[in-house]
Amino acid sequence: MLDFVTDKVQDETRQGEAFAPVTGDPNQYNKRFYIESYGCQMNFSDSEIVASILQNEGFGATRNYEDADLVLINTCSIREKAEQTIRKRLTEFRKMKLARPGMLVGVLGCMAERLKSKLLEEEKLVDMVVGPDAYRSLPGLITEAEGGQKAVNVLLSRDETYADISPVRLDSNGVTAFVSIMRGCNNMCTFCVVPFTRGRERSRDAGSILKECKDLFDQGFREVILLGQNVDSYYYIGNGQQSTTHPITFANLLEKVALISPQLRVRFSTSHPKDITDEVLYTIAKYENIAKYIHLPVQSGSSRILQLMNRTYTREWYMAKVDRIREIIPDCGISSDIISGFCTETEKDHKETLQIMEYSGYDMSYMFFYSERPGTLAERRYEDDVPLIVKKKRLQEVVDLQGRLSFASNKKDIGKKFKVLIEGDSKRSNKDWMGRNSQNKVIVFPKNELELKKGDYVEVKVTNCTQATLLGTPCPPKGGT
Ligand code: 5AD
Ligand code: SF4
Repeated sequence: MLDFVTDKVQDETRQGEAFAPVTGDPNQYNKRFYIESYGCQMNFSDSEIVASILQNEGFGATRNYEDADLVLINTCSIREKAEQTIRKRLTEFRKMKLARPGMLVGVLGCMAERLKSKLLEEEKLVDMVVGPDAYRSLPGLITEAEGGQKAVNVLLSRDETYADISPVRLDSNGVTAFVSIMRGCNNMCTFCVVPFTRGRERSRDAGSILKECKDLFDQGFREVILLGQNVDSYYYIGNGQQSTTHPITFANLLEKVALISPQLRVRFSTSHPKDITDEVLYTIAKYENIAKYIHLPVQSGSSRILQLMNRTYTREWYMAKVDRIREIIPDCGISSDIISGFCTETEKDHKETLQIMEYSGYDMSYMFFYSERPGTLAERRYEDDVPLIVKKKRLQEVVDLQGRLSFASNKKDIGKKFKVLIEGDSKRSNKDWMGRNSQNKVIVFPKNELELKKGDYVEVKVTNCTQATLLGTPCPPKGGT
C-alpha cells in the first residue's frame, strides 16, 4: 500500500508507459525505436520531444521493445525507489540485448544526468547516456553508438527549451495535452535532486507556447496543461528581435492561452507557494476556462522543517496564501505534496503537518516519505535520522487523513452541477463516460442516450461519490429536445 502511495505523484498508471506508434507513420517499416517513460509529467512531455527528433531521423515507433533497433528509457531520480525500478527494467533489456546484440540501449533523463558515465560502468549493456538538455544531439549519439562507441552527452544548458520542436503526442487521449513552458529549477529545496538533474530555470518563448496551444486546439484538443517545475516564475523577455517586446509573466501567459478559445480549458502545474501572485489568482478568477485548481505543495506544516527544507515560507505564510486563494477564487480545488520524516522531524512537527492539511482542506495530495538523494543539500548538511519505520507510520497517518479530507470534499459536491470535459470511457465500463470538472476532480457518469463524444463539455449533476471519484448524471443541453 505504502509503495503505491509513495510513487503516486508520478501517475502510477503511466509509469513505464511505452510510446504508441502514430497511425500511418511512414517510418514504421524503417528502423524502430521504443521509448518508455518514468517520473513526472515533465519527463513524459520530454519523451514526446525525443519522439519528434527521432521521427525526423526516419525512426518509426514501436510498442514492443523486442522489435526495436533502439530502446530508450526516460528516467527519474527523485526517490531511491524510482531508480530501483529503472535498474530492474534495465536488467530485462540486458537479456534482450544478449539475444540481439545490434540493438542499442539508451538511458535518458534525470538518472542519466545524475550518474553520467558511471551508468556505463554500472550497467554494462547501456550504449548511450543522454541528459535532459541534450536530446538534440541524439542523432549524432546514435551514429556514434552504431559505430560501437559508448555515447554520452549530459551537458546542461542555460537556454535549451526545445521551443521549436513540435512534440509528437504520446499515447494521447486526443483531448488533453501537456505543454512545457519552462525547464529547470532555481529553488534549491534541500531534499530535491531536480536542480542538479535539470539545471537552471529558463522560460520558453511565449510565441512558441501560444502557437503550440493553438495548434493543439485546432487539432481537436480541448485542454492544455502548462508544465514547469515552478510555473509562477515564468518570465519571458523576448528574443530581442522585436523592438516592442514586453516581458511576459506567468499571469500574462495564462491569459493569452485562455484567450485562444473559451472552449480550451487551461491548467498548469506546479506552483511554488512563495511565487504564486495575486495577479495569477485574479487571472484564474477572471476566465471561466482557466481551471479553478492549484497544486500548491506544502511539503511540511512545521516552520522549523520548512526552513531546513529551504522552502522560504513559514506555516503561517502558507496558510495566509490558502486564505487568499479561497478569497479570490472561492470554488478553487487545492492539492499538495507532502514529505513525511524529513531530517530531524519530531512528532510535534508531524502533527503540524496534519493540522495544515486540515486547515487547507486539500482535495488531493501526493504523499511520500523522505528519501535521501546523493548530492542534495540535505544529504550534505543533515543526518537522515528519522527511522524508516517512523517515516512509514507518519506517512500512513498523512495518507489516512488525506483519504478523509478527499472524501469530505467530494461529499460536499453532491447535489452540485459541474461543467465536465469528457476524456473518454470510464475505466470500469464503456457505458460510462469519464471526465474532469474545472477543479480537476474525476467524474464518472452514464452515457445515456445523449449524443456526446470525447472532447465535449457537458453539465453533470453529482449524485454520489467515493473517496477518489464523483458519480453523476448528465444534464441534457438546455434548449435540447
Ligand atoms: N524524498 C521524498 N520526496 C521527495 N520529493 C522531492 N524530493 C523528494 C525526496 N528526496 C517530492 C516533493 C516534490 C515531489 C515532486 O516529490 O514532495 O514536491
Ligand atoms: Fe521528473 Fe526528474 Fe523530478 Fe524525476 S527527478 S520527477 S524525472 S524532474
